[in-house]
Amino acid sequence: MNLQTKYLGLELKSPIVVSANPLSEKVDNILAMEEAGAGAVVMFSLFEEQIRREEAAYEYIYQQSTYGSAEAQDYFPDISDFHVGIDDYLRIIQESSRQARIPIIGSLNGISRSGWIDYAKQIEAAGASALEINIYYIPANPQMDGVEVEERYLDIVELVKEVIQIPVAIKLNPYFSALANMAQKLDNAGADGLVLFNRFYEPDFDIETMSLSHALELSSPSEIRLPLLWLAILHGRVGCSLAASTGVSSSKEVIKYLLAGADCAMTASAILKHGIPFIKHMIDEIKTWMAARNFDSVDQWKGKMSQKHMKDPTLYERANYIKVLEEYSVPTLTK
Ligand SMILES: Cc1cc2nc3c(=O)[nH]c(=O)nc-3n(C[C@H](O)[C@H](O)[C@H](O)COP(=O)(O)O)c2cc1C
Repeated sequence: MNLQTKYLGLELKSPIVVSANPLSEKVDNILAMEEAGAGAVVMFSLFEEQIRREEAAYEYIYQQSTYGSAEAQDYFPDISDFHVGIDDYLRIIQESSRQARIPIIGSLNGISRSGWIDYAKQIEAAGASALEINIYYIPANPQMDGVEVEERYLDIVELVKEVIQIPVAIKLNPYFSALANMAQKLDNAGADGLVLFNRFYEPDFDIETMSLSHALELSSPSEIRLPLLWLAILHGRVGCSLAASTGVSSSKEVIKYLLAGADCAMTASAILKHGIPFIKHMIDEIKTWMAARNFDSVDQWKGKMSQKHMKDPTLYERANYIKVLEEYSVPTLTK
């Protein structure tokens, strides 16, 4: 049975891709992901903030050794928040891409137009097969309009594409007023793929201490609906690849995402919960599902439930909303 799929122009042996998470900090884990059947691995991100701080720290050391004493080391920017330094990041890519036969996708996470984009070159030189860019940007400034926000994304895509040859995927958030149009603009700007969606980690409040809490909660399968909708809408409408991210907790979500039109489904929470061998478990279940329907390749069913293939395409728009509300039956309330 053929589970192959094409993502970013790369042939993947299976449609399950491990998305950025700390398990990729160890080469052994990446090799275990390959062994379990992952089609590719996206590395944890190198953050713009980390790059700026490390560069500032090197500059500081240089100035101290050249012009003065190193007494004031306390003024070093705090780079301890990040587990892995830039050199180690590149070393992990180098070693894993040398040892693994599946694509290793580097990940850069930033928002501004300079100061970090050059690291795309180093990630490419280290041997990554592709690069994912995560633009986690909260446009909190009321003076900034939507056009300016979109331009920031498009500029970053163009700048990155200028410096590297490997394919580039953009990990998007769903908060654009015209997402289909934005997807098309990113495609036109040169993005080779879109990852739907980045999961926003909004802060929560601790009402006892009246402070912000930042605990990370792993995802749940109910979160797939928003990416599922947009994958179904975008499939066949943009030329670039589409990856699903968020809410894969079993083979069921992988199958749904591919039916919607994703070229691959990414997973982080599920393997953090169940361990790396869970990838194999999901792959076995996908094979069983395919066998029961006489499918022998993923291409036979990928996108079958996309908007383009639906008899009634309005079911992905207002009609679905109205249907959902109409079909809700009010529970019997106890007094
Ligand atoms: C512990 C943890 C660390 C993560 N680190 C990154 C990261 O460095 N860069 C990134 O783009 N996404 C990161 N993510 C987000 C995941 O790649 C993924 O997009 C998100 O968790 C949704 O997928 P899931 O529902 O399968 O977990 C992280 C997620 C988790 C749980």
